[in-house]
Amino acid sequence: MKFFIDTASVAEIKEAAAMGVLDGVTTNPSLAAKETAPYKDILKEICRIVPGPVSAEVISTDTDAMLREADDLVKIADNIVVKIPTTLAGLRAIKSLTDRGIKTNATLVFSPTQALLVAKAGATYVSPFIGRLDDISQDGMQLIADVVLIYENYGFSTEVLVASVRHPIHVVEAAKIGADVVTMPLKVIEQLIKHPLTDIGLEKFISDYKKANKQ
Ligand code: G3P
Repeated sequence: MKFFIDTASVAEIKEAAAMGVLDGVTTNPSLAAKETAPYKDILKEICRIVPGPVSAEVISTDTDAMLREADDLVKIADNIVVKIPTTLAGLRAIKSLTDRGIKTNATLVFSPTQALLVAKAGATYVSPFIGRLDDISQDGMQLIADVVLIYENYGFSTEVLVASVRHPIHVVEAAKIGADVVTMPLKVIEQLIKHPLTDIGLEKFISDYKKANKQ
């Protein structure tokens, strides 16, 4: 399972990269808006730090404008993946970019039919937003299970990238289903290593050792 970080913060990306388990980065306009530097400058810096795929999202809503934006984004670095919203215009853009060998990430996916269409159009990644489905009392993880099954049934090569991840249980469930990638905030990556019994056990080992050695 690949781990991506879902942020546009260079500081957070450096921290996650130093953990040695970071495979890629996803950004979006909301995440970019939290940063002060221009989006393209941030993307350039991120691509320098992380050799894996870096998703950069278009903000246009019609196909031609999405394609123009994509052309600009892919000039930033070889590892840029163009993130396209899953609309009819987006579907056309994904197909056209795929035909030109440009990698895409279909974002804002909330249904199996959207996932099926973007796979048929050749998207490199599909990003179902599970946390936002949970937020409206729908089972986000069921969508992941459905998409993984559908892609397996037909041998689609589109990778299932679990997005809108809010906590470690999302990561565990996605791994059990066999999703290809999980993108998560730094906070969730850090939570994955935590266990209170590890902390308690470590504290005891250290204090026992000190007692035995009369320190
Ligand atoms: O990258 C998009 C996605 O992960 C957004 O997450 O928490 O804003 O629903 P969230």
